[in-house]
Amino acid sequence: MSDRLVAAWQASPLASLSHWQLVAVAAVVFPAIAVLLNVIDQLLLPKKPSLPPHVFHLFPWIGSAVVYGMDPYHFFESCREKYGDVYTFTLLGRNMTVALGPKGSNLIFNGRITEVSAEDAYTHLTTPVFGKDVVYDVPNAVLMEQKKFVKAGLSVDNFRIYVGQIVDEVTKFATQDEAFVELQNGSTEGSVDIFKTMCEVTILTASRTLQGQEVRDSLDKTFADLYHDLDGGFIPLNFAIPNLPIPSNFRRDKAQKAMSDFYMQIIEQRRKSQVGSKDGRHDMIEALMDQSYKNGRKLGDREIAHIMIALLMAGQHTSSATGSWAMLRLASRPEIIERLYAEQKEVYDDGAGGLRELDYDIQKNSVPLLDAVVRETLRLHPPIHSIMRKVKTDIAVPASLASPQSHTSAASLAANKKTDAGYVIPKDYYVMAAPGVSQTDPKIWKDPASFNPDRWMGKGELEPEEQGETVDYGWGAISSGANSPYLPFGAGRHRCIGEQFAYLQLGTILATFVRRYSWKLATRFPDPDYNSMIVLPKAPNNRIILKERS
Ligand code: HEM
Ligand SMILES: *[C@@H]1O[C@H](CO)[C@@H](O)[C@H](O)[C@H]1NC(C)=O
Ligand SMILES: *[C@@H]1O[C@H](CO)[C@@H](O)[C@H](O)[C@H]1NC(C)=O
Repeated sequence: MSDRLVAAWQASPLASLSHWQLVAVAAVVFPAIAVLLNVIDQLLLPKKPSLPPHVFHLFPWIGSAVVYGMDPYHFFESCREKYGDVYTFTLLGRNMTVALGPKGSNLIFNGRITEVSAEDAYTHLTTPVFGKDVVYDVPNAVLMEQKKFVKAGLSVDNFRIYVGQIVDEVTKFATQDEAFVELQNGSTEGSVDIFKTMCEVTILTASRTLQGQEVRDSLDKTFADLYHDLDGGFIPLNFAIPNLPIPSNFRRDKAQKAMSDFYMQIIEQRRKSQVGSKDGRHDMIEALMDQSYKNGRKLGDREIAHIMIALLMAGQHTSSATGSWAMLRLASRPEIIERLYAEQKEVYDDGAGGLRELDYDIQKNSVPLLDAVVRETLRLHPPIHSIMRKVKTDIAVPASLASPQSHTSAASLAANKKTDAGYVIPKDYYVMAAPGVSQTDPKIWKDPASFNPDRWMGKGELEPEEQGETVDYGWGAISSGANSPYLPFGAGRHRCIGEQFAYLQLGTILATFVRRYSWKLATRFPDPDYNSMIVLPKAPNNRIILKERS
């Protein structure tokens, strides 16, 4: 360095800073420059007119992650005001194009497999948890066959057996769990954490029925710990940044292997002990042991193990969250609990002033209010708020969807030049559906924010899923779901196959509670918590006060 430069440097204010102070200055200056460049890029540089509008954000890479993560529905709605039904936001380095409204849902759920891929969007989150060769670790055609295998286990014959088993588990829980035992003392009221309760009751009932007796027996021992560690890998962070070398992921990997081996052992044991007989078993392992792919190959034991883990994870979070919201919604409207009790007394009257045991056919066809309570809970609290696909080839969005429509204010309409042409969502973008937005849209539903099961009763306000055409992707006919504003179970080739089981499980659990208790909120109705993969009631307002019926 020349003397002059040294002199200039020594004279500058920076020279008086220590090494660490310089680092601190850099830590402020470089991000500030990055933010500035990012803002200039968004406001001043020309954009391809065919791209959907991009949500303004200060920080490059991070984008809208914080606002989206804190309250996705608030984010979706406020962006919809500005940009219309289709817009892109930056989410941790990804371009995420949201498509709202029934038409938006249809674009994503019923997109062609050449255009959108669920496996490319989900595999780095799910494969380390479920294991290899199943669900999103295989081509779509193989997943469709695996869904057919699972459907075989979700049979009406099995469901008939499950009702009594679920009642038995809930009743045992209510007479053994610490918080519940307290309630048995005459007229004592007691407060319980209903989310914790529903998590336990869900895993007890799912393992007793679908998962099988061996899993149920092991729940009080090793299985619960394995489940806990595996579940620790099913977090949004692992969606955002795959394969982070963090302790929770090491525990996840260890638990995956151990749980997979545990199922393998069950299968092997069953093969050895049974010669042609099923020992009266009605669980999913039993159903999967009989299945073969179209090309004749038998479903392998390791694949069975991994499918069982996938089903455990898919059903546990969704059902426990829905059960909790249902109990809390009812707690806020105790008169509906009494109407449910009256419905039970009417349809299960034993003629001697008592109630008959719960029965599959009655639960399925003759408890309309109970059914409506579950439906209405799923309208207001669909457990999954965002559904994603990765874009494989450019997707054309028709003008009818692209143009900001009635949802947009006149001012933002004027600001948005795109009104007559469609958009193109480029390859390597992600697309996101949020059916929960349409499920509370005031343009579609009367008094959308209120919990009103009666809207589904009789000739309900909407029976969207029963309308229209059906399609079959290889695992049974389903409603095409196109353009429905009510899609808590999704639509298209990735649609949920657990819906009937979920209704059976939730309906039976709720009916058992209604017969046994009345309840009310302990504090106020909880806000939603969006920190996990599933929308949960936020603590500490997730408690209810139960009172045993005399
Ligand atoms: C209230 C309960 C439930 C809700 C709200 C729910 C919701 C959903 C949704 C929205 C999807 C579509 C995901 C997507 O398109 O990316 C889905 C798929 C699926 N669900 Fe459920 N689910 C529930 C319970 C269950 C249960 C109990 C099981 C298992 C017994 C299950 C198994 C599955 C499977 C196997 C898929 C297919 C995944 C695919 O094809 O990509 N679900 N579920
Ligand atoms: C996001 O979209 C912009 C505009 O199309 C593009 O320049 C950028 O490379 C994309 N980023 C990623 C990570 O795909
Ligand atoms: C209430 O129940 C608990 C647990 O069953 C029992 O130990 C206790 O003695 C009971 N108290 C009364 C007042 O009945």
